[in-house]
Amino acid sequence: MSRRRQVYEGKAKILYEGPEPGTLIQYFKDDATAFNAQKKGTINGKGVINNRISEYVFTRLAHIGIPTHFIRRLNMREQLVRQVEIIPIEVIVRNVAAGSLTKRLGIEEGEPLPHTLIEYCYKDDALGDPFVSEEEIACFNWASHEEMQDISSMAIRINDFLCGMFAAIGIRLIDFKLEFGRIWDNDFSRTILADEISPDGCRLWDIATGEKLDKDRFRRDLGGEEQAYQEVARRLGLLQDDGQSPGEVLDMSAHRGRLRSSPKPKK
Ligand code: TMP
Ligand code: ASP
Repeated sequence: MSRRRQVYEGKAKILYEGPEPGTLIQYFKDDATAFNAQKKGTINGKGVINNRISEYVFTRLAHIGIPTHFIRRLNMREQLVRQVEIIPIEVIVRNVAAGSLTKRLGIEEGEPLPHTLIEYCYKDDALGDPFVSEEEIACFNWASHEEMQDISSMAIRINDFLCGMFAAIGIRLIDFKLEFGRIWDNDFSRTILADEISPDGCRLWDIATGEKLDKDRFRRDLGGEEQAYQEVARRLGLLQDDGQSPGEVLDMSAHRGRLRSSPKPKK
């Protein structure tokens, strides 16, 4: 059997050539990084959980009409996606002050924002993904005016939908990061949602206790990151209470802990 060709390796995922032209296989690693990869580690079983959570979220978003790169999940760590030309902009959507916003502007973490904020960062590891304005994005031709309109309106719709989806399982969506890509049809391109949506790129707080259920547990050395990711999957109905994904055995032995006592979602 021939080895498949690796197209790209990022910090948390690997992309391989897909079975048909215009497709890729997205492989989810357990590797975790923070602060532009200055901090490195692994979160046991993260790749399996993120693959499952991202599949679930992208499928729900497709149902409300958001075009996405997701085609189908292939196995525990891989999904088939459409090949896109990634738009080099990270789109950050914020509902509550946290993370870099609190540091940059001196606002207290947990302060609800009067309205949803959208911020843009230029995707460049060497520069540390700096904040950029819409004017700079247009000036350097990273995305067209039309693409930015599509991106901002999709980001708002995604946020509205995800806030409700997470609230229904007792989770507050504080902020999250999105990436978009272009697919070409002759000379015309369409903007679609790409990458992943998982606790790696979202801040998710338990509504009742404020407990963090996302990568901040790793970034801030809080511990319990495996249980936190698992708890999000469990509340979304993607894991059975014994920690196993329906129909699949996850390699997660020691995942019982403090986070397990979080209140059950109100159905
Ligand atoms: P920030 O507060 O550090 O700017 O992060 C805002 C949100 O974006 C948070 O949910 C984490 C996510 N994020 C990523 O997914 N990748 C990144 O490289 C950064 C900086 C943030
Ligand atoms: N994933 C990013 C990195 O390693 C940052 C983060 O998620 O905090 O640089």
